Order: sequence, then structure tokens, then C-alpha cells
Amino acid sequence: MSLPPPKTKPVTVPDFLSARSRGVKLTVLTGYDYTFARLLDEAGVDAILVGDSVGMVVQGHANALPVTLDEIIYHTRCVVHGTSRAMVIADLPFMTFQLGPAQALASAGRVVKEGGAHAVKLEGGERTAEAIAAIVRADIPVVGHVGLTPQSVHRFGGFKVQRQQEQLLADARAVEQAGAFAVVVECVPTELAAKITRSLSIPTIGIGAGPDCDGQVLVIQDMLGMYGDLRPKFVKRFAELGTQIRQAVEAYCREVREGKFPDAGHSFQ
Ligand code: KIV
Repeated sequence: MSLPPPKTKPVTVPDFLSARSRGVKLTVLTGYDYTFARLLDEAGVDAILVGDSVGMVVQGHANALPVTLDEIIYHTRCVVHGTSRAMVIADLPFMTFQLGPAQALASAGRVVKEGGAHAVKLEGGERTAEAIAAIVRADIPVVGHVGLTPQSVHRFGGFKVQRQQEQLLADARAVEQAGAFAVVVECVPTELAAKITRSLSIPTIGIGAGPDCDGQVLVIQDMLGMYGDLRPKFVKRFAELGTQIRQAVEAYCREVREGKFPDAGHSFQ
């Protein structure tokens, strides 16, 4: 018995790899739950990143370091349930790949097998290349992440723009040579990000890296205006849902307190 065909053709690794030659920019947003995943998928985003930014925008930590592999697996499962077209990429959190290739492969295997992710992302360039290669050898697609790597926040002394040209180029090339099919480039000046993009054949996905990357990624709460703890320059707010949500909740509280809700139209006769 054959399976029914999917309603929409899922976005694949070859689609990412051919994006530049097709003249198509890749769109990626973070997502952590079913409701948002459905909305993002229906709106046509190419990939949903279950980022370890979940530690900040969902869990309320000051950075992503406390996030666990089990939490990423849980959120990945929620996102996969809401997705029929977008590729689901799961982040490997802090200390789930730094011990070496064997640990990295075991962690990546869990997010694919238990979470249902289509690909994994891990931070670091040259220092992570062996881990990337081990995961790729098991046929798990990998996205690299260079530039501002938020898991290194304490070494960087904060979330700062990264400008070390030679190291960043070497990191990006190491990620490509290790077999990654895309690389996130975070908080890098526009010209340097363009140079990195030109030096690679895999697509670059920029965040705070200017317009010349092959695609863009943003944290969903940031671009919808729902998270105000950090306001980096590169975040464009495409909506002000934070304000709308506050106003809606204020209206609800007012109507309940004044006995206006529920009215006959929202009650059973
Ligand atoms: O965790 C995350 O959301 C990320 C993006 C900011 C790229 O890594």
C-alpha cells in the first residue's frame, strides 16, 4: 500500500543547495510550538529553526546555555506536528556536542529519531568541524553557525558584532568542508558576510549579517514585536503583536470584571 502524496512538496536539502542558482532567497524563522509552526508553514517559510533561543524567549533565561537536549527534542516534536512543507532544523544545545564527535552524533541522532527533525544546527567553525563530519557521515543533514555564536556569550563578553575576517572565513570554509549543507552567519558586518557568501558554495543564512547572504533567519518573537528584553539593531519588527496581545488581554479583563463577557452570543441557550 502506498502513502498518499503530501499536499505540498516539502523543502529539502537539495532545494537549499540549489537556491542560489535558482535566484531564490531562503527564508528561515525560529519556532518552538505547534500553533506557531502551523502559521509559519502556511505562510510559506522554507525552514523552521527550533533554536536554543527557546531558553530566552520561552523559558526566560538571560541566555541559551541552560537549554537541554530533552527540551529541544520536546519543542522539535511540537513543531514537526505543525509542519507539512517547511524543513525543521533543531539546534544542538550547549554541552550536547562540545565533548566531541561521538557525543555530537548521539545528540543529533536523538533529535532526529525522537524529535523528528530533518536537520540539526550546531555552533562553531573550525572547532566543530569534526563533530559536523561525524553527523554528516550518518546522513543527518547539518547547518553550521559562525560569527556570533550565542553559546560563547561569556567568552565574547556579551552579544557583540564579530569582525575577525580571517578566522570567520576559515570557520565558514571548515563548516562547508565538513559537509554542512548551509551555514548561519550571525552579527557580521555586511561586507564580510558577503565575502563569506562568495567564498562558499553552500548557502549562507544571515542574522544581523546584511542583505547579501543567501537567506535570512530571525527569532519569531523578535520579528513579531513580542519580546523586548533585547532589541538588537538587525531586528526589524514586522508586527507589534506584543502591544496587540496586551490590549486584547486588557479588554478581556475589563469585560469579565464589568460582566460584559460572556454575552448571549457566547453562551449556550
Ligand atoms: O537559537 C537561535 O534562535 C539561533 C538563531 C538566532 C540563528 O541560533
